[in-house]
Amino acid sequence: MNPFKPTAGKMPPELIGRDAIVEAFVDGMDNGPGAPERLMRLTGARGMGKTVMLNELGRVARQRGWTVVDEVASAGFCARILDRLTPRSQVGAMRIQSSILGISLGEVDIERASLTLRETMEARLRDDKAGLLITLDEVQDTSLDEVRALAVAVQQVIGADLNIAFVFAGLPSMVDRVVNAKTLTFLRRAMPEELAPLWFEDIEQSFAETVAASGMRVAQDVLPAMTEASAGYPFMVQLVGYYTWKAAQKRGSDILEGPDAQQGVEAARRQFDRMVIEPALHNLPESLLTYLLAMAEDEGASSKVGAVALRLDKGLTELSSYRSRLIKENVVESRARGEIEFAIPYMVDYLNAHRADLLDEMGL
Ligand SMILES: Nc1ncnc2c1ncn2[C@@H]1O[C@H](COP(=O)(O)OP(=O)(O)OP(=O)(O)O)[C@@H](O)[C@H]1O
Ligand SMILES: [Mg+2]
Repeated sequence: MNPFKPTAGKMPPELIGRDAIVEAFVDGMDNGPGAPERLMRLTGARGMGKTVMLNELGRVARQRGWTVVDEVASAGFCARILDRLTPRSQVGAMRIQSSILGISLGEVDIERASLTLRETMEARLRDDKAGLLITLDEVQDTSLDEVRALAVAVQQVIGADLNIAFVFAGLPSMVDRVVNAKTLTFLRRAMPEELAPLWFEDIEQSFAETVAASGMRVAQDVLPAMTEASAGYPFMVQLVGYYTWKAAQKRGSDILEGPDAQQGVEAARRQFDRMVIEPALHNLPESLLTYLLAMAEDEGASSKVGAVALRLDKGLTELSSYRSRLIKENVVESRARGEIEFAIPYMVDYLNAHRADLLDEMGL
């Protein structure tokens, strides 16, 4: 069986480069209520491994006998958390309360929802002292009311010195929209963990180990090519591994060789375009897309903000708002003053390859 897992939320054969985060969380569990690592936020671009990290933290918590409730922050998640924590015998009675925990909570409802959650969590933790971890995914576009209801409840359970941990994850835009929201000061205390690209050394080693564990081998000079093509992006690591492995298997070979990697990388790139780049571009307004096309003229080297302005024939002030929006969306990043570059690998190639079509679609 192919050992690589290029599917959203699927545990990879090896969780590369995230030991420090797992260790921090384990420390938090060991150090008891009040340990700062028990309240953690994970941010990262699409495909950077947020869901997988939440699953991993859930796994280590379960190993220690903790109860784990994993939820996605779509409407109604407070009610779902409540359902999961409520003993079966009480579910009937709970339903009624659950219904008020749905969408659009008024001031009073938030308080009631929060109180119900808190009481349920506290009851659970008094029965079962091992601990409770709540994980919440996709927090970037959640209802602030519901997050507030949950956050207040968690804060109070922590205040009562009970054994709870809360880890939430989202795209980087979550920080502005949710974490820094006026009513949610508690979330600002969460320990920030930004999921960065993986180190090439770690990736290369992991490719070798994963292929070996699957009963195949990989030619020495193929590893660097696969690693480089991954660009340090976890999702791309899985895609490149998967399609290269598949190409060798199709030939009936048990060794991954140069042509397999070539084919593998091409297939991976196509998938990556479809799954990461196109959705990221799709959500952008025309003005921002035009900005990216102007940047792409630099062929992947960092762009000078002034040069982009000249290409677009627009003022620097107007463009600075485009830029901050693109940075917030994690599409571009600025590492040096007055310079800007793409944050998602291969986006520049995509833009240049599809320039004519994209302009056409915009009627330009
Ligand atoms: N540390 C890692 N090492 C190797 N592969 C990883 C790692 N983290 C994630 N992956 C792989 O990357 C892919 C994306 O992971 P995941 O779905 O967790 O990302 P995400 O950040 O939640 O993305 P999205 O924002 O789209 O939900 C999966 O195929 C997963 O197996
Ligand atoms: Mg995810």
